[in-house]
Amino acid sequence: MEQDFSIMEQAALAALRAIGDEAGLRAWQAAWLGKRSALALALAGLGQLPAAERPLAGQRANALRVQLEQAHAAHAAALRESGLAASLQAGALDVTLPGRPAARGRLHIATQTLRQICAIWAQMGFQIYRSRDVETEAYNFELLNIPPHHPARDMWDTFHTTTSGSLLRTHTSPGQIHAMREYAPEPIRVVLPGMCYRYEQITPRSEIQFNQVEGLAVGKGIRFTDLKGTLTDFARRMFGAQTRTRFRASYFPFTEPSAEMDVECFLCTGSGCVVCKQAGWLEILGCGMVHPKVLQNGGYDPAQYTGFAFGMGPERIAMLKYGIKDIRYFWGNDLRFLQQF
Ligand code: PHE
Repeated sequence: MEQDFSIMEQAALAALRAIGDEAGLRAWQAAWLGKRSALALALAGLGQLPAAERPLAGQRANALRVQLEQAHAAHAAALRESGLAASLQAGALDVTLPGRPAARGRLHIATQTLRQICAIWAQMGFQIYRSRDVETEAYNFELLNIPPHHPARDMWDTFHTTTSGSLLRTHTSPGQIHAMREYAPEPIRVVLPGMCYRYEQITPRSEIQFNQVEGLAVGKGIRFTDLKGTLTDFARRMFGAQTRTRFRASYFPFTEPSAEMDVECFLCTGSGCVVCKQAGWLEILGCGMVHPKVLQNGGYDPAQYTGFAFGMGPERIAMLKYGIKDIRYFWGNDLRFLQQF
């Protein structure tokens, strides 16, 4: 009997030492400690032994069970330990190596310019007013004094949605009506930045989408001189304290009188260069006194209130500032262009 146990012990421990993984450990446990193992059978068979041998054999069998269980646990722990050491070795981390630089994004040049413009207007007391990209024909045209079939609509051909009468705004001017209707009869000073869309042939000078920054001031006693002074102040903050401006008569259905503002070319300071095409002046924005009909559509009594409005294109300003020759670069998604700014 004792010999059987010694053989069992040696065989079991030898088998255990040869095991190198989890699956092996499980199989070993089933074979040597499981219900059908030699040891389990020996324990079950104790009853058949002569009474005198039973206590000793019982003790020996139980002692062997405990010994095998402990050996199993110790071997399992050793395997875990060496596995951990091996994986640490394999994936060794050298904390003294320089880190991998994370690629940092940046703001799009149009966004940078847009924010710069808005920040200047904010300093001058204009509040940012967000307006929608998808507009109704009424807001984009009629309420701005552009009736159906008016020839000025040719300037603003656009993309229509599948809902009749709704379209992608062609300019930020419809935001004027939204702002006025929200604040009337309070005086307002707002700038409305955002994307505009036009159905156009794409050329170096025109795109089907671009940003605008609209501005609107409404109150009592606002005059054309306020428009000129405010816009000239903006130009000096944007392009430099010495910048001169000039206003040329123009036409927009929603302003009367209307003008275009030029700034003295900041590259040649007026002497003529390629950027200003030898003119010495750069056209920057459209503006004018808010048309009485538009004031009325916004909820103001034109007999008491006046106001001025303007609209400028950040992409165009960025093109002038950085000498960008083609507006299609802005939305062309070419990193070689975008990473320059
Ligand atoms: N909305 C005009 C355009 O898109 C610009 C403008 C705005 C002109 C406000 C006058 C006043 O061309």
